[in-house]
Amino acid sequence: MDISDLKGKRAIVTGAGQGIGRAIALALAEAGANVAIADLNEQKAKEAASGIEKLGRKSLALKTDVSSMADIDRMITETVREFGSLDVMVNNAGVTRYAPIMELTEADWDSMHRVNAKGTFFAMQRAARQMIEQGNGGRIINIASISGKAFPGGSNAAYAASKAAVIVMSSVAALQLGQHNINVNAICPGITDTPLGDNIILQGAKVHNESTDDFIKRRTAPIPLGRQNEPEDIAAMAVYLAGPGGRNITGQSINVDGGLVMH
Ligand SMILES: NC(=O)c1ccc[n+]([C@@H]2O[C@H](COP(=O)([O-])OP(=O)(O)OC[C@H]3O[C@@H](n4cnc5c(N)ncnc54)[C@H](O)[C@@H]3O)[C@@H](O)[C@H]2O)c1
Repeated sequence: MDISDLKGKRAIVTGAGQGIGRAIALALAEAGANVAIADLNEQKAKEAASGIEKLGRKSLALKTDVSSMADIDRMITETVREFGSLDVMVNNAGVTRYAPIMELTEADWDSMHRVNAKGTFFAMQRAARQMIEQGNGGRIINIASISGKAFPGGSNAAYAASKAAVIVMSSVAALQLGQHNINVNAICPGITDTPLGDNIILQGAKVHNESTDDFIKRRTAPIPLGRQNEPEDIAAMAVYLAGPGGRNITGQSINVDGGLVMH
């Protein structure tokens, strides 16, 4: 078995204009899949899609807000119209900001839950509907966070709650969709070097009144393997879960964090 052979598979990755999502989309394409890029930022989606095409795969840039039901439905319909079917759905789009509990606003709570929890849930539900209709099973991968398990250093209670929601909804969906041969798993990244990660460093250093270097050192010091993630670390796990290697794995939330969550 070639554990990561995705030849002929059709995938969507949300929030794939940059960061972890873009790395996942490229890795799925390298493994053989055609990949639709769904992102709020149309320009970034187009750039990522042309990166996929350079690998010799089909791609599609879809301006999508995953918190809009109409956008989710359009994302699935257009992908199926272009590619013929949908085999792999990666719900990666997510938002956060670094904020201690007393500084969180209603707008923070709403935006994190609208994008991270609601967006993930309904994109998962609509993708599963399409997969059930096709009758060939499928793979759904939801990007949560170690913040949804235990990562006090994450310092954002609203974000943590939205990611805990992603972890739990993934296992409930796995239980109910197994009969359709649809595997559902969550990946929980630790600290990852992306534009979102850069913003957290800037905001966190400000909140704690320290230099960005000191903030980075303090946050990465407890990581047993000694480094933060590159987006490709998450992408490797996504390819595994999407491919033949992941065929009997479902309902899991897998940490990719250098061991940080053990603290
Ligand atoms: N970077 C980290 O340290 C880290 C750690 C744990 C989990 N995560 C999770 O990984 C995922 C990706 O994070 P990242 O660091 O690559 O973030 P990022 O901000 O660098 O990239 C996120 C992408 O999602 C898009 N996006 C935002 N809101 C959207 C919406 N409503 N609809 C569609 N697209 C939208 C953005 O335009 C952007 O291209 C997120 O779910 C995040 O919570 C990140």
